[in-house]
Amino acid sequence: MKKYNWGILAPGKMSAKFARGLKLLDKAVLYSVGSRDSGRAEKFASEYGFLQAYGSYEELAADDKTDIVYIASPHSLHHQHTLMCLRNGKNVICEKAFALNTRQVQEMIAEARKQNLFLMEALWPHFQPFYRKAHEILKSGMLGEILHLHGWFSFQPPFDPTDRKFNLQLGGGSLLDIGIYPVIDALTFIGVPYEIHTFALFSPSGSEESITVSFRYNSGKMADLYSSFKTNEGIGCKLLCEKGNMIVSRGRDMNQRVILEVHGRPVEEFVFSPEAMGYHWEAEEVMRCLDNNLTESPVVPLSFSLDLIRTLDRIREKAGIVFPGE
Ligand SMILES: NC(=O)c1ccc[n+]([C@@H]2O[C@H](COP(=O)([O-])OP(=O)(O)OC[C@H]3O[C@@H](n4cnc5c(N)ncnc54)[C@H](OP(=O)(O)O)[C@@H]3O)[C@@H](O)[C@H]2O)c1
Repeated sequence: MKKYNWGILAPGKMSAKFARGLKLLDKAVLYSVGSRDSGRAEKFASEYGFLQAYGSYEELAADDKTDIVYIASPHSLHHQHTLMCLRNGKNVICEKAFALNTRQVQEMIAEARKQNLFLMEALWPHFQPFYRKAHEILKSGMLGEILHLHGWFSFQPPFDPTDRKFNLQLGGGSLLDIGIYPVIDALTFIGVPYEIHTFALFSPSGSEESITVSFRYNSGKMADLYSSFKTNEGIGCKLLCEKGNMIVSRGRDMNQRVILEVHGRPVEEFVFSPEAMGYHWEAEEVMRCLDNNLTESPVVPLSFSLDLIRTLDRIREKAGIVFPGE
């Protein structure tokens, strides 16, 4: 069995979850951690069992023994960090939002192709049982055509202008952080819309804090999406279909749920509680692709990431969300 040396770039909250997932995989060697601060790198490495700790991202990227780097810095740094890792010969899985805008994502994809290296956006839902179950139900035809999708994600972090969620320099705002999930749901279950309308509210630091988005499709379908750091609704979407409805959600208890309401039949609920919140499956996919000499994943192809960032750009343009330097 071929094993892969994993490096973690930016050991924050998400990297801790990802490291817990990596630990479940026999093929993954928890090899290195790179932080802006050597003390933080060492602490994370000893807590999760990584072999090397680096006090800079440059040193992490330069280590020839690393095969794959997982990038979990703030959104505004994904472009720079991905390019650096690719140019140092590393395969990359990078957190959402893949980058700030389409230009940056195109440059990342071009670099991966130039270097013939693997690149994937870490889109968690695509590897989870609740998404697979929802696809299976839709494919069975029992709900008929999807007519409308409601999507939502909101929670109430305390306002802090230095936090990446509110700091425009770090790509702050609800849309790229959490609103991206309802957008992913709409693109996954319906597709790319032809018309978009939005309303947004802004925080005192100028970052977008709440946003509603409407999608219209050529087929006559519609979607309404909402994200906010001001309310606390949780995460999910509801598909309104010809023969019934389906809720696809991750509950406050972190369980994944699919609730099926076929007209005239009792409501059915499917609950999934994967180990490590299922973060290991995206890491497993990277290694499966590398085993098969693939430079992109058929589960999250780079074309999907391009559709996603183009749609986010269209939403931002309508809502007047601009990041410094754009
Ligand atoms: N897929 C998911 O379910 C999921 C969930 C949560 C977050 N995410 C994504 O993961 C990424 C990180 O989110 P997080 O919640 O882990 O954030 P976080 O806890 O704030 O961690 C981000 C890390 O980035 C590093 N960093 C580098 N430059 C920074 C700067 N100028 N300011 C602040 N931090 C900086 C810091 O590590 P060092 O200073 O130690 O290097 C920090 O610990 C985001 O892109 C987010 O969208 C994904």
